[in-house]
Amino acid sequence: MQITIIGVGYVGLVQAVGLADFGFNVTCIEKDKEKLRELKFGRVPFYEPDLEDLLRKNLKRNRLNFTDNYLDNIAQSDVIFICVGTPPKKNGESDLRFVDQVSKEISNKIKGYTVIVSKSTVPVGTSRRIENILKKKNSLKSFDVVSNPEFLREGSALEDFIRPDKVIIGCRTIKAEKILKKIYKPLNRPYVVTNNETAEVIKYANNSFLATKITFINEIADLCENIDAEVETVAKAIGLDGRIGPKFLHPGPGYGGSCFPKDVKSLIYQGKKNSIDLKIVKAVDKANELRIKFLVKRIKKILNNKFNNIQIGILGISFKPNTDDIRKSPGIKLVRDLSKTKAKIKVYDPQAMKNAKKELNKTIEFCSNEYEVAKNSNLLVIVTEWNQFKNLNLFKIKKIMKKPMILDLRNIYSKEIEKNGFYYYAIGNN
Ligand code: UDX
Repeated sequence: MQITIIGVGYVGLVQAVGLADFGFNVTCIEKDKEKLRELKFGRVPFYEPDLEDLLRKNLKRNRLNFTDNYLDNIAQSDVIFICVGTPPKKNGESDLRFVDQVSKEISNKIKGYTVIVSKSTVPVGTSRRIENILKKKNSLKSFDVVSNPEFLREGSALEDFIRPDKVIIGCRTIKAEKILKKIYKPLNRPYVVTNNETAEVIKYANNSFLATKITFINEIADLCENIDAEVETVAKAIGLDGRIGPKFLHPGPGYGGSCFPKDVKSLIYQGKKNSIDLKIVKAVDKANELRIKFLVKRIKKILNNKFNNIQIGILGISFKPNTDDIRKSPGIKLVRDLSKTKAKIKVYDPQAMKNAKKELNKTIEFCSNEYEVAKNSNLLVIVTEWNQFKNLNLFKIKKIMKKPMILDLRNIYSKEIEKNGFYYYAIGNN
């Protein structure tokens, strides 16, 4: 079976390397020449643990081929995974121009029965859209379009590929279902087989519900701060309810990344387009958008409304640990908002500094480690819960800070550190 992946970003590359490791021959089509060159030499152009090793292993086994040439490959493909980006438009609508472009290329070049798999996060009805493009030049019997959304988390994408909770197969024929099950057989995970439209909604419902859980515990955290309660204990207790579950109940600076913000807004747009006002999802989006402003006010209060001659150290810019991705990152939003004050800002992140320097203005001081950030700072703000921030040399930190104040937006530490002479502020604890 010849498998082709179109678009080798986060999703496409993990899919390609994962399937190659199952033993399939996988061809990857990517337009970006620079990215293509990197990949051919076994270099992953972003940080994702273990992905580069697996890429190199399968390049050596000649199971992976990278090209920018559609012509030769589409005709020989039995299964084509569309993994191109679906960036949000200003109104929240998903931009499907890349999906359309790729569908047209495929439509002109497929030969023999081919399964086209929509892997990108696409709004409901996109499978139909792809089918309509393909049937202009191909008989309905010569292809099937399958919706097979992924649930990969950045920083643990390979783990999530190999051990997904479920494999969603949205299709219209048994033939297509059988082919997808043959591909995913090595996973030995539960299938949810349904129609394309239901599979497309599952992806948005899944992500939006997770975003709702996070936003809910963030709101409870804000309440806890004002009523002398402990949000971590609340999260632990409600998480013990089997109907809720403990995951995604960690309070923080709000959800970021390339998925939740985009998917929540897209779902709201899809609701509106179908005359359904998704009030809860809209409230989640609004609450998350306002979170950083709320935290800047809290920082202002901690600093007694004084930013003049104040230095603030920021630890963590990536939107979560184990990634260099800063898209919609709370760290970026926080630094941008604080840069509007007179405070001097210093930042450090273990992986995201290169991306941060492209995004943030030059008045920010980019440091090479946590202690440089802490030096002469009046306040140290922990924004991303990198493991290496969990065992800082607090004795040294206290000595080099102008004032030993820590705002811990991920509750990595606890009030215990007040014994070391710190002023400690957490999320959801007074
Ligand atoms: C998410 C979904 O988890 C994944 O299934 C989907 O395929 C893509 O989007 P990702 O965006 O990589 O994955 O990261 P995730 O680990 O879900 O975190 C998303 C955001 O929520 C991050 O900003 C993270 O810091 C935040 N978060 C997560 C919390 O604030 N609290 C939590 O308890 C969990």
